[in-house]
Amino acid sequence: CGIFGYIGKKNAVDIIFKGLEKLEYRGYDSAGIAVVIDKELCIRRSVGKLCNLGLSLKENPISANIGIGHTRWATHGSPSKENAHPHTDTAKTVVIVHNGIIENYVELKAELQKDGYEFKSETDTEVIAHLIKKYCKGNLFCAVQKTLSRVKGSYALGIVSKDEYDKIICARKDASLIIGVGVGENFMASDIPALLPYTRDMIFLENGDIAEITAEKVVVKNIKGDIINREIKNIRWDTVQAEKDGYKHFMLKEIFEQPRTIEDTFRGRIYPDEGRVYIEEVKLKLKEEYIKNISNIYIVACGTSYHSGLVSKFLFESFAKIPTEVDIASEFRYRDVILDEKTLVVVISQSGETADTLAALRLAKSKGCQTLAVCNVVGSSISREAMYVIYTHCGPEIGVASTKAFTGQVTALYVLALDWAYKREALTIKELKKYLKELWEIPLKINEFLKNAESVHDIAKVFANKRDFLYLGRHINYPVALEGALKIKEISYIHAEGYAAGEMKHGPIALIDKSMPIVAIVIKGRIYEKIISNIEEAKARGGTIIAVADQSDKEIGNKSNYVIYVPETDEFVSPLMTVIPLQLLAYYISLILGCDVDQPRNLAKSVTVE
Ligand code: G6P
Repeated sequence: CGIFGYIGKKNAVDIIFKGLEKLEYRGYDSAGIAVVIDKELCIRRSVGKLCNLGLSLKENPISANIGIGHTRWATHGSPSKENAHPHTDTAKTVVIVHNGIIENYVELKAELQKDGYEFKSETDTEVIAHLIKKYCKGNLFCAVQKTLSRVKGSYALGIVSKDEYDKIICARKDASLIIGVGVGENFMASDIPALLPYTRDMIFLENGDIAEITAEKVVVKNIKGDIINREIKNIRWDTVQAEKDGYKHFMLKEIFEQPRTIEDTFRGRIYPDEGRVYIEEVKLKLKEEYIKNISNIYIVACGTSYHSGLVSKFLFESFAKIPTEVDIASEFRYRDVILDEKTLVVVISQSGETADTLAALRLAKSKGCQTLAVCNVVGSSISREAMYVIYTHCGPEIGVASTKAFTGQVTALYVLALDWAYKREALTIKELKKYLKELWEIPLKINEFLKNAESVHDIAKVFANKRDFLYLGRHINYPVALEGALKIKEISYIHAEGYAAGEMKHGPIALIDKSMPIVAIVIKGRIYEKIISNIEEAKARGGTIIAVADQSDKEIGNKSNYVIYVPETDEFVSPLMTVIPLQLLAYYISLILGCDVDQPRNLAKSVTVE
């Protein structure tokens, strides 16, 4: 979910609505705004995307100088008007927006119902509104303090009361909340891009902080009410980066941005001619001695980030000779993982806010492990809590289906693995130079390929009506097969399976018939002959093969039905290249089917609940 608040002299409704537009990628099954007009609360809520709320506000405009808004991704209770935020108490005195989950809401609800409080929604959030009302004896801040001392779970909260309409109270625990500091006006929001059009001065609330925001002042306190000094940080992001740039969808723009974002991620960090890697953030803190002694690595992440983790397993093992495990964060959390101080836990997260990944990070820290985060969002929860962080410099990723974040993560991890490989004396300087050069050349090669993106569109036209796809890959391109299948599921709602090509004969081969397209990544390298045999097996069963192959491959045309040629790369860097046609294939099929490319159903960009 995303939340936004404003207090100042301008029309809060317009500003909040614009803020919610920037946050819509965090959830879009309902939205709402609450403001204070003539000392009374006025609440507007609509089911579905934000534009529905926009229509209702257009038909019946309101204006005020203080308000809060919310765009929802349902957790407790279906997407309905009743369950949409903001929520209020029975007497309509207090109104709140909430991102997170109140774990003990069932007990609290029962207690409040016993006291006669009437509930109008199925949400966990509503208990907070009633509790604040219950505890409010003329001081909203104290009521919030008392309420939060009773609540278990996670929250980013914005709270307004008609009785103290000169302030917004906000509070945070395990969900991000940022205050935008203006002149004669102040803001609060779930993330940085939503605040950027108004201010670059921001305060990042920490867990347990409760802030009181008026038009003139921001005061941050802890739950006991002691004032805490939180630094105002100046954020240098460019708002234009978040625009569509003339592309039809954010996803397409983000696919085409990849030559630049990959370069931005390695820029200043690699020097192929000298055979030098310099990762400033890590270099300052991670001692060479420690790097030499890492006994094993655990990589933990969700979704697409998990796939980039799978790719980097090959890099850490083959380059740096460090045993590496990769786990899905929601599984890692609840397993008896064997960890010690010599284990390095690497968490990968584009948003830096994914609840399961954050919890896995905390678990690793509690076990005494060193922790390193690969993140795209500066100042995000994961980036702040990990001991070391490497940022992927991809800029904001808006399309829900992740593209440039994946290639940014693989790039950052490739650089890191090479650096450590050299430090651990697992690679010679000559090899290091060679692999750095391979990465250096990737942006050019992707650019060259993208000039021919229409050829993927043509293939998409042939296969858009299929209901099932099989994606095959081996070795370092096996995770790319998983990622290709995930992309098509996410945005085209077509069933797809990613499989290790050698494993196909143990099951999926039974699915193959004339109607089954098989996308196979057939890059030159150590398993080339093997995967060729696998596609022969699939072809012999009538499957239609779409091969992603090297430009120089003269044979592949005879072995497959369609070929997407990509510029030749070394196999260790090839995932950065081979994933591009798979992203485009999913994009074009989604486009042909008329699906909502940037905001596919049931998904959210940043999943801040378990
Ligand atoms: C959601 C998004 C995915 C993303 C995953 C992990 O499911 O829809 O695109 O890969 O979360 O997000 P993270 O921000 O932690 O990389």
